[in-house]
Amino acid sequence: MNQRQTPRLQAPLEPILDMNDIQGIAVPGFFKPYQTLLYLTVPADSRETVDHFKTWIGNFATQVSSAEKTLQDRRDHRQKGASPARKRTNEAAILYAIAFSAIGLRKLTPGASDIPSPAFQQGMVARSALLGDPIDPTVSGHPSTWTVGAPGAEIDSLIVVAGNDRDPVSEHAEKLSAELREAGVKVDTEDGAVRSDLPGHEHFGFDDGVSQPGIRGRASANPHNFVTERHVAPSEIPEAWLYGYPGQDLVWPGEFVLGYATTSPDPLIPGPPSEAKPGWTRNGSFLVYRRLLQDVGLFWRTIRDEAARLAALPGFAGLDDERLASLLVGRWPSGAPFLRVPVKDDPELGAEPLANNYFQFDSDTAPLKLTTPVKNYPLAKADPVGLTCPLAAHIRKVNTRDAPSDMGGRSATYERRILRVGVPFGPPLPEAQKYTTLDEDPAHGKRGLLFLGVQSSIEDQFEFLQARWINDEARPKAPGGNDMVVGQNTSARGGIRRCSLFGSGFAQAEVRATGQFVVPSGGGYFFVPSISALGDVLTK
Ligand code: HEM
Repeated sequence: MNQRQTPRLQAPLEPILDMNDIQGIAVPGFFKPYQTLLYLTVPADSRETVDHFKTWIGNFATQVSSAEKTLQDRRDHRQKGASPARKRTNEAAILYAIAFSAIGLRKLTPGASDIPSPAFQQGMVARSALLGDPIDPTVSGHPSTWTVGAPGAEIDSLIVVAGNDRDPVSEHAEKLSAELREAGVKVDTEDGAVRSDLPGHEHFGFDDGVSQPGIRGRASANPHNFVTERHVAPSEIPEAWLYGYPGQDLVWPGEFVLGYATTSPDPLIPGPPSEAKPGWTRNGSFLVYRRLLQDVGLFWRTIRDEAARLAALPGFAGLDDERLASLLVGRWPSGAPFLRVPVKDDPELGAEPLANNYFQFDSDTAPLKLTTPVKNYPLAKADPVGLTCPLAAHIRKVNTRDAPSDMGGRSATYERRILRVGVPFGPPLPEAQKYTTLDEDPAHGKRGLLFLGVQSSIEDQFEFLQARWINDEARPKAPGGNDMVVGQNTSARGGIRRCSLFGSGFAQAEVRATGQFVVPSGGGYFFVPSISALGDVLTK
């Protein structure tokens, strides 16, 4: 009998998620092209305003998009054309979420202090140095330079309004802002949107949101009503039980929502539930918001110069800037993974969700039977030492897939996964100006990513990824180097980020960057309560 067909007798029983109580931003996540963020501050000294805010939250709770509604919206969207009427009505296409910082939550309920997360309680400003942000207040990226959530100006609450078109999103955001201001709450807003020239791509030019964790769990008692779609043929065991889309690891829901099973050393066996303390935090999640500026000109100037320097070294002839940048991401601009197409980009593969995540780092991938057949793209070969995709590539730093890491065996990556639900902000830098300096740029570099990440533990997920794997040159696997794309200089040796790269014939070279391509300019740590907590505990 074939090894792949043997040991397990049945698929793991996945929990039914409380779809009407969990906010849709957490499960299955908002992936809308237009967003407006509302930053709320409630004057602490005004009991009256706090009471008005509570009343407003109580009413708003009925509008907040549940996991059920968000999943339905996604399914409608996927069945293109099946629901034109729904799409035309703004109501159906607009999604809302609300989250609170510890400061904000304490204004609503004293029980907020009992949430046992030091990161959440302290807030992002206090944890900024740990994340590798500059500790010199004169350097941009230090919290004192932030445009949102700066020291002493931390926001109490974050509202996300998301939709398919700009105008309805802005109209709904304005309506909410007017109501909140009427209640005495200070509101600032910020728009995010997919790039008009390259939808789905972040500002450096790479497709983003290609890899997301699959969330285990069912939306109802129906055994096939999975929150994350399954695409591997049931005969393929264990892959059919491990993946949503091919290569998309299914992660137990407690890694994203409090009160559900988390990961255990065996991905098919549930671990203990994520702790929901106090009890009303059940069905809630933590949301990390980072407003990240991207210096696109600096990124491409550095890549151009490094590519030219390396191309003169033995083993690196012909290295151009697109190839070097793609190596540092681990994917080509289209999202096609380096491990499947190491020679050149394949936009068709990049756009194919049934194939663009099917690769591992330490093992070859075998042909896989799917419920819907897909073209035979080249299969990925094992690359344990990073000969094809560098160990420091961004996607290798934040998701070790099947490779062991400093944290142990392959399953160690499951408990580090986050759901990324942010969007870019600011105008794209036209391709023709990609080497432009900030002084020459009409937008003065005011573009980047409104990074939003959902998890059940800020410490073990977002902070771990940023501080331990992204910024550390020796982790998750040595000798890799720093994450050149998003890593922080202050945590790097001598302020220089570096990583190793293999050329032909095992030639090895070091890529270096002194400038900071990604600079934090705001953010905060938030709790996303369940809808029942919004209507009850937080409004009493
Ligand atoms: C401006 C900053 C950032 C840029 C431009 C960026 C860009 C990208 C790109 C192009 C990808 C590959 C496409 C994909 O798999 O979705 C990616 C993947 C990813 N990024 Fe980032 N990223 C940024 C910041 C971060 C931060 C701060 C974190 C976490 C602390 C992070 C975590 C991830 C994760 C978990 C993946 C998926 C990896 C996988 O599962 O294969 N990113 N990012």
